[in-house]
Amino acid sequence: MAAFTDRMAPVLLLWLAVCLTGSLAVDRGNFKTCDQSAFCKRQRALKPGESPYRALLETMELTNTRLTLQLKNDKNKVRLLLELYRLQGNITRVKINELKPLKPRYEVPDVLVREPPTEPLSLLSRDENGVVLSLGAESQRVIVSAQPFRLDIMEGRDVLMSLNSRGLLAFEHLRIRKDTFSYLITSAFASVWNIVQSVFSRQADGEPEDANLDNEEEAVVSEKDEEGMWEEMFKSFSDSKPNGPSAIGLDFSLPGVEHVYGIPEHADSLRLKTTENGDPYRLYNLDVFQYELHNPMALYGSVPVMLAHNAQRTTGIFWLNAAETWVDISSNTAGKTVFGKMLDYVQGSSEIPQTDVHWISESGIIDVFIMLGPTPKDVFAQYASLTGTQTFPPLAALAYHQCRWNYNDQDDVQSVDEGFDEHDIPLDFIWLDIEHTDGKRYFTWDANKFATPKEMLQGRLDKKRKMVAIVDPHIKVDSSYKVHSEIQSQGYYTKKKEGGDYEGWCWPGNVGYPDFTREDMRAWWARMFAYDKYEGSMENLYTWNDMNEPSVFNGPEVTMHKDAKHGDWEHRDLHNIYGFYVQMATSEGLIQRSGGVERPFVLTRAFFAGSQRYGAVWTGDNAAEWGHLKISIPMCLSLGLVGIAFCGADVGGFFKSPSSELLVRWYQTGAYQPFFRAHAHLDTPRREPWLFGPENTALIREAVRQRYTLLPYWYQQFYHTYRTGHPVMRPLWVEYPQDPATYALDDAFLIGGDLLVHPVTEEGATGVTAYLPGKEEVWFDVHTFQRHNGAQNLYIPVTMSSIPVFQRGGSIIPKKLRVRRSSTCMEHDPYTLYVALSRQRAAEGELYIDDGHTFNFEKKEFIHRRLSFANNILSSVNLAPDAQFSTRSFVERILILGASKPTKVTLKTAEPAFTDGKTSQLEFEFNSTTSVLTLRNPGMNAGTDWTMMLQ
Ligand code: GLC
Repeated sequence: MAAFTDRMAPVLLLWLAVCLTGSLAVDRGNFKTCDQSAFCKRQRALKPGESPYRALLETMELTNTRLTLQLKNDKNKVRLLLELYRLQGNITRVKINELKPLKPRYEVPDVLVREPPTEPLSLLSRDENGVVLSLGAESQRVIVSAQPFRLDIMEGRDVLMSLNSRGLLAFEHLRIRKDTFSYLITSAFASVWNIVQSVFSRQADGEPEDANLDNEEEAVVSEKDEEGMWEEMFKSFSDSKPNGPSAIGLDFSLPGVEHVYGIPEHADSLRLKTTENGDPYRLYNLDVFQYELHNPMALYGSVPVMLAHNAQRTTGIFWLNAAETWVDISSNTAGKTVFGKMLDYVQGSSEIPQTDVHWISESGIIDVFIMLGPTPKDVFAQYASLTGTQTFPPLAALAYHQCRWNYNDQDDVQSVDEGFDEHDIPLDFIWLDIEHTDGKRYFTWDANKFATPKEMLQGRLDKKRKMVAIVDPHIKVDSSYKVHSEIQSQGYYTKKKEGGDYEGWCWPGNVGYPDFTREDMRAWWARMFAYDKYEGSMENLYTWNDMNEPSVFNGPEVTMHKDAKHGDWEHRDLHNIYGFYVQMATSEGLIQRSGGVERPFVLTRAFFAGSQRYGAVWTGDNAAEWGHLKISIPMCLSLGLVGIAFCGADVGGFFKSPSSELLVRWYQTGAYQPFFRAHAHLDTPRREPWLFGPENTALIREAVRQRYTLLPYWYQQFYHTYRTGHPVMRPLWVEYPQDPATYALDDAFLIGGDLLVHPVTEEGATGVTAYLPGKEEVWFDVHTFQRHNGAQNLYIPVTMSSIPVFQRGGSIIPKKLRVRRSSTCMEHDPYTLYVALSRQRAAEGELYIDDGHTFNFEKKEFIHRRLSFANNILSSVNLAPDAQFSTRSFVERILILGASKPTKVTLKTAEPAFTDGKTSQLEFEFNSTTSVLTLRNPGMNAGTDWTMMLQ
């Protein structure tokens, strides 16, 4: 980022200095470490094994679906209320709140798609040490141990997960500051009240003096204030904490687990690292200038979901809290080599591996969903049942996007658009960054550079292309700017702690931040996208929400002050969900402007659990460095594991300039990642694909074309993720959960279950070693059709022409090979089916077709077919007989990989248009070197039943 107002000159100078010296590194001093974050430091200082919490079993209440019981902190006497629910689909929910908080504590709204349906709980046994409950239909039990409080979730004899087994449960209760007048009054009143109460109750009950008081509430023992409890300084920023300390924390032990994943967003490996020797992973949505790789610092978005995996089981922890959060990870096998572990085993000193995690949040309550799998796909389904699935994007959004900060004016847009045609590179979207506006006033256009936006948009529409314009959530404070004056007059801005609109600096200079947590504000914002409100907009203009952490250039850690107010809540309580609401309101706006007909497309930088329901996410301001290309893989994989399937990284790198080799490799990788957009910083030289010489243009063209040929497969995968919550871009272990060789792999990934991509991310690489998983599998190189066995590390020589991609034997992938100007131009084009045979000479796949852009698919207007090959018969059957849609597309070619030569091929179709309803013989070619059988022009309509017999 850079800055453009006089007041922000120092930022600009810093930026220039960085450009001149060429060194890119985050200024760590701008962001807190755990030690600099008072609540994190306090909670991290807790020692294991000293839990002050005891479960008061006599307070237990059990209804059919809900267990409640009180926990008492024996040191300060504060009581908590624990609630436990068994949710449908093998999920257990544990909520812990103060029994009687001074005022309500924040519970995150709007993330769960519904109140999760519960299942019955029943009591199995109970004594003075604890209770045992049976959970739902599975053979699972919960054991609540009384002292110290501990909760174990068991299946058979196995402990799946334990809560507070290390005793790190901490719940800072709300209190009144000691040195205040109200404290004196309240505590004096409380003492008198306690005395009166105890005298009267003893008189009434005739109880002896030392009676066990557990059923009564004892007076809270006041604790020593620690530094940072009531205010905190960071650099020159002071955080007043009117509510005082309010942090919460809880530990989870995962016996048998050595691999944990998720909790994006971090620029780190897919498999999470242990954090004992550094900071915990931090979840706090931040605009981090020039982020560094391989560290646990917070980035733009947060999804507080962790997956734990071993060969037997996958589980998940969803910590529903939107405040600043830190996650510590430790493991008893960390740092031990395989040899070390073997030695332990031989010497009989090996313990069961175990991972322990410790979640810490600044405020709110503990509300945790324990997803018990047992398979990775079960966990995805469980999480999807709570927070929803990826919104089904318009097909075009899966195609190629060309962005830069900035395309200067309408002529520039036109010439970029034409450049793609001249160089025969397909393109669906051209993007406009902040400079297209009138002085960074969103929803407006710069009258000199974009005088006739509708003409510009119409020009794209004529070519079946689209555009995206940025709409950031900070609003220029300018009384002549209608958007501002309306928000201001409605009182929709976030407020300062002392009242009045909260203001900060961002691109336009002085700005306000609409309070997107308000439903009425979001409704107002959504209406802004109506064609008559957003002047110059048309149906082929979509939206990009940036800076929605929110980014506040002059705020603490470049974001909003924690004591800013959203109604009664502090920003501290809900910081991580602000960006979620921005994208929610925008996406609602795009739906509404078309009367609910068209699917929206909205890209966001900040996100939270559930953001998948509103659009796509990108990994922010990366750099044109090989390390950033490499990290794009685990960053998007981690997002996919927690529901956000539509992820991409700026192709080419945002900061700095890529070498042509890096750029080509980035296109080749990006072409196989869900969101495929090139983007570049304002100060970088232009880098449209044809600016690097004809050879590189050809390489980039080929990469983009490969993406377009595969769009039918991508689209079907996104339909699948919309239905199931399974990620589109998947770590190998998701498909091969029992193969430990896949657990830490993050240099390769799968798209769906059938395409394995191993990008080239090393400069000057002449080969890569790719792991092909699955003992039973065979894999076909998509470029050469060469067949390889699974369960091996394969060295593959590479040239610049492409990256290694393999199709799994046993799959059928539909492609469209007639690549045109844009995906919409290819709508009615014919399909080519790639049938890759398994060792058993079988294959299966799906084909999904709809209109590509409306919500009519929800009204069953689509075609969904199963394609299968078995016993030398290839067939297409209807998977959705109650759905209705027709297509003009036909099947123009079928390639069967790993085939043997037939003597004849007979096609039988129910569809008269092409074959007269009769049986016909097909022409074919067989290549005995590659074992590829090609059937030309079978000609059946893609939406109909047919069978094809090889004899
Ligand atoms: C932020 C975005 C970047 C964008 C720039 C200007 O840095 O991350 O993508 O180009 O702002 O809007």
